[in-house]
Amino acid sequence: MLLTCHEVRPETADVTSFLFNSDQAVDFIPGQFLTLLVPIEERTSARAYSLSSIPGDERLKLTIKRVPGGRVSNHLLDALKPGDQLEAMAPAGEFHRDIAGSGAWLLLSAGCGITPVFSMLRERLQREPDADIVFVHSARSEADKIFPQELEALAAEHPNLKLHWVLGDNTDPDPFKGRLDLPQLQARVPDMRQRTAMICGPQGYMDAVKEMLRTEGLAEERIHSEAFVAPEPASVASSDAAGHNLSVDGIELPILPGQTVLDSLEKGGLPIFAACRTGVCGSCKCKGEKEKLESTSVMGLTPEEIEEGYFLACSSTVTGDMALELND
Ligand SMILES: Cc1cc2nc3c(=O)[nH]c(=O)nc-3n(C[C@H](O)[C@H](O)[C@H](O)COP(=O)(O)OP(=O)(O)OC[C@H]3O[C@@H](n4cnc5c(N)ncnc54)[C@H](O)[C@@H]3O)c2cc1C
Ligand code: FES
Repeated sequence: MLLTCHEVRPETADVTSFLFNSDQAVDFIPGQFLTLLVPIEERTSARAYSLSSIPGDERLKLTIKRVPGGRVSNHLLDALKPGDQLEAMAPAGEFHRDIAGSGAWLLLSAGCGITPVFSMLRERLQREPDADIVFVHSARSEADKIFPQELEALAAEHPNLKLHWVLGDNTDPDPFKGRLDLPQLQARVPDMRQRTAMICGPQGYMDAVKEMLRTEGLAEERIHSEAFVAPEPASVASSDAAGHNLSVDGIELPILPGQTVLDSLEKGGLPIFAACRTGVCGSCKCKGEKEKLESTSVMGLTPEEIEEGYFLACSSTVTGDMALELND
């Protein structure tokens, strides 16, 4: 689909929302993301961005944080302006309203991780104004709050929405002092184990929050999260460590212990398309030898495909020399 930028709306010092018109109807579930294809100099890069708008809004909205040194986020925040056009892939992703279900929600986000949960929140309240929702959002400071007016307005309008801000600089002593921890979460959300938790933010934040919820006895199947950044491989060995070889159409590529297949293919200049880079979109699917693969995600692959050797290059390392086929 082709998106045309309609408006650029700064949210904080390093976060900007972009509103787009699309050349076609876009059907998405709140929580899902679009993959933008962004031409920068001679190369087009694909990056996933959660929709912060909801179905029925006049325009699609993406809310993007500047990542220091990041290729695409800096380009978009510095250069994208009304009238510019970008190609995007259809909405995708498994972290959405439908897995959150219809019971009581506990939405937890930090920083730009607010985008998918904000969309889920708005859409649920539009459908079900009395929905029982607790929303805890962590920001570095008052100035780093994203969508504060919209959230305060929703909380004022919907008595069953309980909104809590956690400010890292500790300037807002109520309800949370400085940092999200279990005693404060217990005090504010005493019934958390009855809720379904939807979590999005930096990996360290999500790990800490999940640990709190598990300690509190929330069942694993009611804890859902989405990462914006692929976890660091456990250990990528130094370049002089003994590795293996990938063989692709007669081309041999080195791959180090702990290095993902995607990283090896990209460094070798092979044409692999990877949209999310975190094992959620399926675009980097390849076929290899299943007994030589170690994968952290097989999302979107059927058991039959896994049996046949299909895997996600962004989420897989190898334990031996391996021949592989790229997916066309
Ligand atoms: C499902 C999904 C949804 C996403 N939704 C959003 C969204 O709504 N808003 C948004 O701003 N981003 C979102 N992202 C992240 C986005 O896709 C890009 O990864 C991000 O914009 C950085 O891209 P870049 O090209 O600027 O950085 P790159 O050039 O790809 O990376 C530069 C360096 O920064 C690190 N890095 C990448 N992303 C981050 C990050 N978010 N925080 C800290 N370090 C990082 C990389 O590991 C790398 O070392 C989402 C990602 C996924 C997988
Ligand atoms: S790039 Fe999305 S699953 Fe690998």
